[in-house]
Amino acid sequence: MKTILYYFTGTGNSLAVAEGLCRRLPDCELVPVASVARDPGRIAPEADRVGIIAPVYFSGLPAVVADFALRLDLARVPYSFAVLTMGGSGGTPALHQLERILTQGPGKRGLDAGFTVKMPGNYVLMYGPPNDATIGKILGKADRRIEEIAGLVEQRVQKRPRMPVFGSLVQHLIYPKFIMGVHDADRKFSVDDRCTSCGICVKVCPVENIRLEEGRPVWLHHCEQCMACIQLCPPLAIQAGKKTEERQRYHHPNLRIKRPE
Ligand SMILES: Cc1cc2nc3c(=O)[nH]c(=O)nc-3n(C[C@H](O)[C@H](O)[C@H](O)COP(=O)(O)O)c2cc1C
Ligand code: SF4
Ligand code: SF4
Repeated sequence: MKTILYYFTGTGNSLAVAEGLCRRLPDCELVPVASVARDPGRIAPEADRVGIIAPVYFSGLPAVVADFALRLDLARVPYSFAVLTMGGSGGTPALHQLERILTQGPGKRGLDAGFTVKMPGNYVLMYGPPNDATIGKILGKADRRIEEIAGLVEQRVQKRPRMPVFGSLVQHLIYPKFIMGVHDADRKFSVDDRCTSCGICVKVCPVENIRLEEGRPVWLHHCEQCMACIQLCPPLAIQAGKKTEERQRYHHPNLRIKRPE
């Protein structure tokens, strides 16, 4: 029973979900969405089960995940599901967006089930992380939820995503503006004198949007606004305007940072 899990993550929450599920599902392969997003054309996985794991951005999908879903053909996959992670709310409309894209896409086949998992919010442009005790509680609950979702996936439960009765104002009004400017939004990022030229920001960017020039990060304007570079810079040297200077940083404790060679 082969399972492929496609995942996108900035700060490790969605990766922790993907890894937690993969440990519990036999013959499971993890594939980063960004690694297949580069090749143009249809993506037709050969597996008994396919899952898509990603964060919620403004009650919608990250741009790279929406683009990936547009090319994903699940017609020959017996069971498909998605798990979206979020800080508070907006998961249901984002799941519905994914369902809509997949049913209109090349496979004309949507999801069998959609799930959400609450995780610590990572949008450091608007807020800092909760305190350590709260993070611990959220992550403990998330672990139990991952266990539960793995069981439901094993049973091939049917739980098709639906739009909330009153729709989603955030997806309707804010998400389109976010998507329109997302790739260029790194123009507001800057680096201060605390930068040690360690190169970690380059390594953690899931879409290779950063290179070092004379030891300092330069952003290449195909950003996904995942927050990984800001959140994972060890001396907190990356800012987006004035507000981020005062805020603490967050990443999931299981996230392995690939240190530069
Ligand atoms: C650009 C952006 C927009 C976000 N919008 C939402 C949102 O609408 N609702 C929500 O609950 N969390 C929102 N979040 C928080 C993330 O969905 C959440 O922290 C997620 O688990 C991060 O996953 P990751 O660590 O895999 O990147 C947003 C985060 C970012 C970076
Ligand atoms: S992670 Fe931070 S300290 Fe390291 S190179 Fe990037 S900006 Fe500089
Ligand atoms: S540049 Fe930073 S915010 Fe943009 S995609 Fe890369 S890591 Fe994420």
